[in-house]
Amino acid sequence: MKITVIGTGYLGAVHAACMAELGHSVLGVDSRPDRIARLARGEAPFFEPGLSELLTRGIESGRLFFGGSLEDAAAFGEVHFISVGTPQLAGSLAADTRFVEAVVEGLAPHLRRASLVVGKSTVPVGTAARLAITLASLAPAGSAAELAWNPEFLREGHAVQDTLRPDRLVAGVMSTRADVMLRRVYAPIIEAGTPYISTDLGTAELAKVSANAFLATKISFINAMADLCDAAGADVVTLAEVLGYDSRIGHRGLAAGLGFGGGCLPKDLRALLARASELGVADSLRFLGEVDMINTRRREKVVELARQLAGGSLTSVNVAALGAAFKPETDDVRDSPALAVATALHAAGARVRVHDPTAGDNARDAAPQLEHVADVEKAADDADIVLHLTEWRQYQQIDPLALRAVVRRPVLIDARNALPHRLWQEAGWTIQCMGTGPGLTVAAQDAAPGHGYDEEEMSRMPRPVMATTRRKCAGPGNRGRWLSRLASVRCPDGQGRCHGMRRRHVHRASREHPLPDWSSRFRHGRGGREQGARSNRTV
Ligand SMILES: NC(=O)c1ccc[n+]([C@@H]2O[C@H](COP(=O)([O-])OP(=O)(O)OC[C@H]3O[C@@H](n4cnc5c(N)ncnc54)[C@H](O)[C@@H]3O)[C@@H](O)[C@H]2O)c1
Repeated sequence: MKITVIGTGYLGAVHAACMAELGHSVLGVDSRPDRIARLARGEAPFFEPGLSELLTRGIESGRLFFGGSLEDAAAFGEVHFISVGTPQLAGSLAADTRFVEAVVEGLAPHLRRASLVVGKSTVPVGTAARLAITLASLAPAGSAAELAWNPEFLREGHAVQDTLRPDRLVAGVMSTRADVMLRRVYAPIIEAGTPYISTDLGTAELAKVSANAFLATKISFINAMADLCDAAGADVVTLAEVLGYDSRIGHRGLAAGLGFGGGCLPKDLRALLARASELGVADSLRFLGEVDMINTRRREKVVELARQLAGGSLTSVNVAALGAAFKPETDDVRDSPALAVATALHAAGARVRVHDPTAGDNARDAAPQLEHVADVEKAADDADIVLHLTEWRQYQQIDPLALRAVVRRPVLIDARNALPHRLWQEAGWTIQCMGTGPGLTVAAQDAAPGHGYDEEEMSRMPRPVMATTRRKCAGPGNRGRWLSRLASVRCPDGQGRCHGMRRRHVHRASREHPLPDWSSRFRHGRGGREQGARSNRTV
């Protein structure tokens, strides 16, 4: 089929590339010439795993093109997907649908033959019905130019996979013809077993926003429980694990931490509230306002924790912010909790250095007042507090002992509850998590009476050497085993001293000698990759 995709941002660029991958001829159109130029060269204009490869393959196959106007789009395609932005309206909770309206109004006068205009953008319920009237009145083809709504559920960071192998397809249609055309577009996906639900326009619009509202509610629920756990001295990570085993609840989206952000969930939640109010059912959805507030308070809570750990004032405190993207595997910083915390700390007087593996440029544009650095060590250099704000996998690989050598004070706030805490603790870090009760803050209390630092005690703590040299032990009992002063496990010969090493030293965690006994905690308890895999970053 001949398809156009109008609006080639995070959603549209992926959709265009995936439609070409399915075998369609696709033209991508965007009002931003810079974006189109990059896409036409096969370059993804943002970080999305697998997208560059798909773009290259589509362009080389001769099925994928970028450029042109709405008039060109009308001439090219029989199905036109609209994937322009619907941001939050300034000064309101409602969604700004002007961009979608502009596309329908700009495209319709050029539609001279039978065609299907398919909205993918997330819009308030009722928008599609209104646009259907606009389309029919402006298109020379009249009723042969029809509107449908096919909301998109992809997650940034998994967008290619989610588009080619979605959990479900939803088609809001007004005729069998529209339904048949959409089934043809998605034929390979439907044949692979993906559920395809055909419904009316309004239900399709609501399917998207209610899914986001549900996910947001789940995340805020566990974050509210995290507050309760902190107050009661309980552990929200274990609590979430227990809850998640209930098949009616499930583990995904049940990781307490800094909460959700991004270009979708927060604004979709607010737009749903605004629309419910317009439709006279504000009372029924009022709880979503609280879901939003719980989420916003997570950011304030982390800033407050940092203030407490800094002894009551953030003025001139050096902060390393690990993460700027709103979640891992994306460079999107729209409404990013990480960046919100970093900017709030800066506004409170802290000197903030931000690191993110991919979102550095976007973060610099969005928050130029912060210092943006290219590696974790630079961010942590002389830091008083390290904040783990976006749960990138590479942060889980940080050697806490090596990092301890560059910071001024080994104090960590793991706002995502996703680092291997035992390892960090053994490396001498004071750790504060979100909703893990007093268990992990003992070190903080020991080291920082009155929530401040005990400077004297801190200064007495041995500063580990940055050398990464590893040596083989020549001593009895451990002959041939790798040793290093940078690891956190004592020599298993029990002597605390191995032949050939100057100081008390340790076996470096390595493939040959994995760290002992904290592993089950790491796997099943707080922190660690498996627990992280169930985190709300997948939303
Ligand atoms: N990003 C996601 O993960 C995601 C997931 C599901 C749904 N959505 C929804 O999809 C829509 C798009 O989101 P996004 O994140 O891709 O936004 P985006 O801002 O990344 O992309 C929107 C694109 O539309 C272009 N555009 C705006 N007006 C245009 C016009 N008149 N003609 C041509 N192009 C125009 C912009 O230049 C931009 O490139 C939103 O409604 C969003 O809620 C997004």
